[in-house]
Amino acid sequence: MSNDFKGLNAIVTGAGSGIGLAVAKKLQLEGATIFGFDITLGEMSGVATWVECDVGDSASVVRAIAKVAAQVGVIDILANNAGVGAVGSVLDATDDEWARVFNINVTGIARVTAAAYSLLKKSTTPSIVNTCSVAATVGLPKRAVYSASKGAVMSLTLAMAADFVKEGVRVNCVNPGTADTPWVARLLAAASDPVAERKALEARQPMGRLVSSDEVANAILYLANPQQKSTTGTVLAVDGGIGGLRLPQ
Ligand SMILES: NC(=O)c1ccc[n+]([C@@H]2O[C@H](COP(=O)([O-])OP(=O)(O)OC[C@H]3O[C@@H](n4cnc5c(N)ncnc54)[C@H](O)[C@@H]3O)[C@@H](O)[C@H]2O)c1
Repeated sequence: MSNDFKGLNAIVTGAGSGIGLAVAKKLQLEGATIFGFDITLGEMSGVATWVECDVGDSASVVRAIAKVAAQVGVIDILANNAGVGAVGSVLDATDDEWARVFNINVTGIARVTAAAYSLLKKSTTPSIVNTCSVAATVGLPKRAVYSASKGAVMSLTLAMAADFVKEGVRVNCVNPGTADTPWVARLLAAASDPVAERKALEARQPMGRLVSSDEVANAILYLANPQQKSTTGTVLAVDGGIGGLRLPQ
């Protein structure tokens, strides 16, 4: 443990479960105060202050930020992590699904950032970390809508980094491979053979195992750390090698 995060205030979206929960736990251990923006409390009790928020709804986001502003005058870290999945190709996707997934995964990041920006600007070390995905850089089957949304998250990260660099607000993202979170547990539970499906997901990763939430959270804390003063507009893969390695079969 360092003193790097001591006394800092953070907003973590999707803090009730999986990667967001792991980020909140690590930030809490490091002495930060965390506001968990989520549609449900999930497991963040005792870790983060739950602020009920649907990142897909502007009024909800504005209300949530107002609640934070009533408690603290500054936000140092914004982890835009909440996201939803979608299974299928473009042949399966409806207009409603395209709109729903982009509204939460992409516009959600933009609206939380915009609403939180005046609080972030008051920090001496403001940092935003977006949770993207390896789906942004690798063609995965049956993930058309989700992958397109994460491609947009990656581009948005770079655009935000460019827009905010002169104001000292750093913006980066992480690209996890398949991570062992309740999200993936739900996907597996819906498969006809969950055990075989898990084995296939593990085999797809060059390391032969799923990425852990803690590993992704470590990368998010690395990028959010005030010590990384020169790191902005970067995409950090935490993907077990799936993005870059080609192994002989
Ligand atoms: N699990 C993976 O394999 C994986 C891989 C790459 C990227 N990701 C990304 O990581 C992020 C977190 O995923 P996870 O696996 O921890 O999922 P998870 O389902 O375990 O947790 C997601 C959390 O986000 C919350 N949430 C969902 N919609 C919301 C909304 N509209 N407003 C506010 N909160 C909302 C949920 O209630 C939940 O607490 C997502 O952006 C996802 O795309 C996950």
